[in-house]
Amino acid sequence: MRVSRRALIFGAGAAGVATALPLRRSYAEAAAKEYRIAAKPATVNLTGKGDPDTAVWAYGGTVPGPELRVRQGQPVRITVVNNLGEDTTVHWHGIRLQNAMDGVPGLTQKPIRLGESFVYEFTPPDAGTFWYHPHADTLQQLGRGLAGALIVEEPELVAVDRDLVWFIEDWRLDDQGRIAGGFGNHMEAGMSGRIGNTVTINGRVPEAVLVKAGERVRLRIVNAALARIVGLRFEGHKPVVVAHDGQPCDPHSPEGGRVVLGPAMRADLILDMTGTPGETYRVTDDLYNDLAYKLVDLAYDTGKPIREPLSDTPPKLPANLVPEPDLAAAERHDIVLQGGMMGGMGMMGDGSMMRGGMMRGMGMLGGDGATWAMNGMSMTGDGHPKMPPLFTIKRGNSCVLAVRNDTAWWHPMHLHGHSFRIVSRNGKPNPRKEWRDTVLVPPRESADLAFVADQPGDWMFHCHVTDHQEAGMMSLIRIA
Ligand code: C2O
Ligand code: CU
Repeated sequence: MRVSRRALIFGAGAAGVATALPLRRSYAEAAAKEYRIAAKPATVNLTGKGDPDTAVWAYGGTVPGPELRVRQGQPVRITVVNNLGEDTTVHWHGIRLQNAMDGVPGLTQKPIRLGESFVYEFTPPDAGTFWYHPHADTLQQLGRGLAGALIVEEPELVAVDRDLVWFIEDWRLDDQGRIAGGFGNHMEAGMSGRIGNTVTINGRVPEAVLVKAGERVRLRIVNAALARIVGLRFEGHKPVVVAHDGQPCDPHSPEGGRVVLGPAMRADLILDMTGTPGETYRVTDDLYNDLAYKLVDLAYDTGKPIREPLSDTPPKLPANLVPEPDLAAAERHDIVLQGGMMGGMGMMGDGSMMRGGMMRGMGMLGGDGATWAMNGMSMTGDGHPKMPPLFTIKRGNSCVLAVRNDTAWWHPMHLHGHSFRIVSRNGKPNPRKEWRDTVLVPPRESADLAFVADQPGDWMFHCHVTDHQEAGMMSLIRIA
């Protein structure tokens, strides 16, 4: 007789109130996991029944692409087939892997041409929430739907009733449901980037997520938007952050009660369903305060709670073995973010910011449509052969990247192939020193990022607001 996972998780189920949470996986050590994914045009419905479908580019024909799930330390082999009308590559965002598998066209691999394929092979060293996306013509390929979640499971089951992924994407649709053109618009690139008008969770504008009173849910949120930063509030609930960007942290309430995620950033939350059966509670995004909207409802079924409310603090996830940087011995490198329009903040679209705006420091930024720079250097696009490094770090050394944002805009800065500790912000020690792979740096602020340069190769360090990256806020760090 087979016992379904669901039955296992809910124990006695409807018959009574379960007490314990499951703790151990039942299956044996897994062999290498294989996937084959084609990047291709597809048609999906993003906004719901009765609305027109949208032509997208999609991994495996779905939005988001197939959820890849492997276990920590389990080798994975992913064959990516290109059925798009242009070259592509795939970047495994946040995975600490070998440079040759990093997916940067011209730099770590040749782009995958139409009809061709590339085999990515790596063994994820860290358990956590990661994602994958193209690193070629990224603005358009990501903006048209190419992205998916990559979940690396802990060897021991984490004690929750359900493991949910919310893969957030932001689309700019016209009134016929088509993806609006105008990717790479200059004015936008110099401001907030391409923020859309339609936010989806797991490929749909969501209405409600059904929950049961008493459940403990692990909610993995991925912000896969091109440019939109989200700030999520859970009405009537107390989310506890247990990981940032796939790396466990001390469980804590989000600052100001709001989970803020810039593009490419992830958070793992433990959400105890402490609401009342039959009620609904709103999850809102109020990052851009006058443009707050309801993202989704948590809708409780009417059944009685599945257990007495859990009173314990959610458990700390087992730490990943990320090498610890030696701050005293670290090489320090200053990185100044420059360019863009003056007087930032807010969304694009009404043109009002143009009046006060002027390009900052444009004199020193080269041609090529570059609007942004790092240390006076503008690299545009998605990566290319012979890109000069911003600097070189000796392999094995500890390193501090001292990032200062001299612009009027927010920048989620991502380092490929490594996780770093945020050791300080604005010159003050950061008590939590959390690990991340993407750090959101507000206007005129700074952050010091520490890591061990243990992986040789050429690694991108760029803004993950895709317009900013493509318009010059991209660089390369060489580890040799
Ligand atoms: Cu997720 Cu170079 O990026
Ligand atoms: Cu940016």
